[in-house]
Amino acid sequence: MKKILITGGAGFIGSHVVRRFLINYPQYEVVNLDALTYAGNLANLKDVENLPNYRFLKADITDAKLISQIFQAENFDAVIHLAAESHVDRSIADPNAFVITNVLGTVNLLNAAREYWKGSYHEKRFYHVSTDEVYGALGDEGMFTETTAYDPHSPYSASKASSDHFVRAYHDTYGMDCVISNCSNNYGSHHFPEKLIPLAINNIKNNKPVPVYGKGENVRDWLWVEDHARAIDVIFHGAKSGETYNIGGHNEWKNIDLIRLLCEVMDEKLNREKGESAKLITFVTDRAGHDLRYAIDSTKLQNELNWVPSLQFEEGLAKTVDWYLANEEWLMNVTSGNYQSYYETQYRER
Ligand code: NAD
Ligand code: DAU
Repeated sequence: MKKILITGGAGFIGSHVVRRFLINYPQYEVVNLDALTYAGNLANLKDVENLPNYRFLKADITDAKLISQIFQAENFDAVIHLAAESHVDRSIADPNAFVITNVLGTVNLLNAAREYWKGSYHEKRFYHVSTDEVYGALGDEGMFTETTAYDPHSPYSASKASSDHFVRAYHDTYGMDCVISNCSNNYGSHHFPEKLIPLAINNIKNNKPVPVYGKGENVRDWLWVEDHARAIDVIFHGAKSGETYNIGGHNEWKNIDLIRLLCEVMDEKLNREKGESAKLITFVTDRAGHDLRYAIDSTKLQNELNWVPSLQFEEGLAKTVDWYLANEEWLMNVTSGNYQSYYETQYRER
């Protein structure tokens, strides 16, 4: 049986990856390691937490000694590393947290893998989940490919770029089996409502202003989160050591057009008059250093590993809205911070 460590499994994308691996690979033991920061919520995994091949470890990747002890005790066969500080606006307010978790935390994991996997690097895999933001910003034309030069602009993207470089350095220097993927903006269920789509859904539902930065002209390439989890699955199982893959939705939207579409969907779902939700759109001060446009060319992933996005955006957005409207309790717990106590009640007493 393979034992896989997934870091950040209580977060948005991590919970979808954990679920996919638990269900599709019952022969794997999946260990979810997460510090349960404000973004980590074990209720995201409520439907799978009792599966026999699942285990949760509350641990902080910034604690080098603890991470080393865990690697010594567990003998993992592979790591899929998602744990990170993930929100650009928070990185502008407090860059240090991003250096500590995203850079030092990643290096702590690499060091532990380097030490405890010595002699068997060819049998082990370190998979780092990264972002398209490392490539910087595009103008009106072009797409990011795997050979686009790194040019990060925000403290968040600078920290992710740095962690990517460390992962490559451990492959090149020590011969460890490392793989990286760089993905565009995800959307779907369990997305923390500080990010554009879930924030807008929550605000529209509660008749609160929907903040659109600047003129809403910035473009993002949106991907259904379960398609990202499937891409991670095929890359984890199919990539050669040292490879990088870009993952994207071929689905570019200007923020303002996306929000207008979302308002239409919300009007319909909430039985509001057409145009009612759009009245909540409020243009606010732009994000500092706001990247104009991201677009991913995922031809390599399509050609080599046969992956393409499965879901049309309109369908995915409607499904996302349905999920948030049906999961009011999740949303309320997350916005009130109550979810932190889920861990106490579910895990401490075991
Ligand atoms: P998220 O913020 O929803 O979840 C992050 C998880 O990491 C949380 O469960 C949190 O508790 C955990 N974590 C944070 N600091 C930790 C620490 N020091 N030790 C252990 N656990 C810690 O993030 P997400 O949106 O699910 O992103 C997951 C990964 O995917 C990140 O590495 C991010 O850079 C990358 N990514 C995200 C997107 C996106 O659109 N959200 C796109 C491309 C890549
Ligand atoms: O591209 C991948 C990245 O996508 C990931 O690496 C990050 O972890 C993830 O958070 C996301 O980053 P963005 O900054 O693109 O996502 P966010 O949802 O914060 O913003 C999307 C766009 O919407 C961006 O252009 C900023 C804008 N925005 C955001 C918020 C929160 C607004 O106009 N209003 C808002 O209130």
